[in-house]
Amino acid sequence: MRVDLDSKIPNNVGLSDDRKLQRALEAWQPNFINWWMDMGPEGFQMDQIYLRTAVSVDSKGWAHFEHVKMPDYRWGIFLTPNEEEKLINFGDNMGQPAWDKVPGDWRTELRRIIVTQADTEPASVEQQRLLGQCAPSMYDLRNLFQVNVEEGRHLWAMVYLLHKYFGRDGREEGEDLLVRRSGNVDSPRILGAFNEPIADWLSFFCFTYFTDRDGKYQLASLAESGFDPLARSCRFMLTEEAHHMFVGETGVSRVIQRTCELMKEAPGEDVTTRGGIPLDIIQKYVNRWFSVSMDLFGGEDSSNAAAYFAAGLKGRFNETKPGKYADHLALDQVYETQKPKGDGATENVEVPLRRAMNLLLRDEYKVDCQKGVDRWNKVIKRAGINFQIVLPSERFHRNQGMWANQPWDPSGNWIGQEAYDKRIGDWIATEADTQYIASLMKPVYEVGKIAPWIAPPRTGLNGNGFDFEYVKFSDDPYARI
Ligand SMILES: [Fe+2]
Ligand SMILES: [Fe+2]
Repeated sequence: MRVDLDSKIPNNVGLSDDRKLQRALEAWQPNFINWWMDMGPEGFQMDQIYLRTAVSVDSKGWAHFEHVKMPDYRWGIFLTPNEEEKLINFGDNMGQPAWDKVPGDWRTELRRIIVTQADTEPASVEQQRLLGQCAPSMYDLRNLFQVNVEEGRHLWAMVYLLHKYFGRDGREEGEDLLVRRSGNVDSPRILGAFNEPIADWLSFFCFTYFTDRDGKYQLASLAESGFDPLARSCRFMLTEEAHHMFVGETGVSRVIQRTCELMKEAPGEDVTTRGGIPLDIIQKYVNRWFSVSMDLFGGEDSSNAAAYFAAGLKGRFNETKPGKYADHLALDQVYETQKPKGDGATENVEVPLRRAMNLLLRDEYKVDCQKGVDRWNKVIKRAGINFQIVLPSERFHRNQGMWANQPWDPSGNWIGQEAYDKRIGDWIATEADTQYIASLMKPVYEVGKIAPWIAPPRTGLNGNGFDFEYVKFSDDPYARI
């Protein structure tokens, strides 16, 4: 696969062979940069950040680190290599050749799937745009920007698909992706979690742990798609997503570690008097971000999900991984689950398997979420502190699906609206909690130093120490744009 790094848009998709497409994307590029300057990280566009840039899709391409100004980052279009004679691997079209063009019958659905994925990418950059101003260390500041530029690249990956395969409609969608704004009343981003403010670093770490992980599962199911260009785009995006979740998991873990250290220094004392983040506030943040991320999986019993699977657009997690599934039709099988009947009653139901595809994906997600939580709990246990972080029940604090807007507590018990309203502050951060967290958010921009509410990472990045100069600030005092 030829990698072209020197043209305006770095790519491995042979862009220079398709002049019309190249012109259209080159016309979109300045709009993207305008959006980035407007809605990207505020205050750091002239600084040199130690970033990893994708220069190819092989393992060597991943080792490319250098100091670069974010607006000069080389956002490119990279797909994993084309496999000869790829087939559709599940659903009613199983065994037929994979599509390298949009199948006419599924044009609308595919466009919707791609636009919904694409919309989350710029949304998260918008949500995180002020966090640099209160970064706990240069190392963290750099990680934030790495996540941000890669979300920008994911947007490029999706806009490429829209431009190449959806003609004028696709180009219009490409423009709209730069117009919607996270949290805007008139023109919000498409999905709920991507309109939630990320006001502090504990939220950022929870978001990259829980919400980027939803991204992982959505991308993984699209990486199975019979629409081959989408599958190959998503495969490559998944490799970048892994770093985002690493930032989240280690971030929360370092906060927990610091809290435990402070608790041990002064047993029985309120950890806030020492500037730490209490474990029960961390639990509240986990409750919030886990529940809003669960909402992203869509309805538990979904005809759309069934149709996408039947057509071969969206598979199960690791659908084609050897040994995972013996059967790829998912016919004549059911998924047993429970459903609310009102006033706290529930009933057992059987959802036809294809209609339960969102649930299947969500189950995989939950198991994956739990793994990091277990590792966090080990940090607490090692410190000899009696506390456990727990993922709340799928019923708790939901806004989508069959459990939405009902008074279930984090253990999944029905407690009635009045008790729920009274106790919600025990489970989701109160105004006072978030104000306390906000009071801790003071920037530390000195090499090798760190804010008092979080422990330093065990190692730095790419063989560098924690005391490496991950960000070189511009000398120009007027450059804080
Ligand atoms: Fe992304
Ligand atoms: Fe991400």
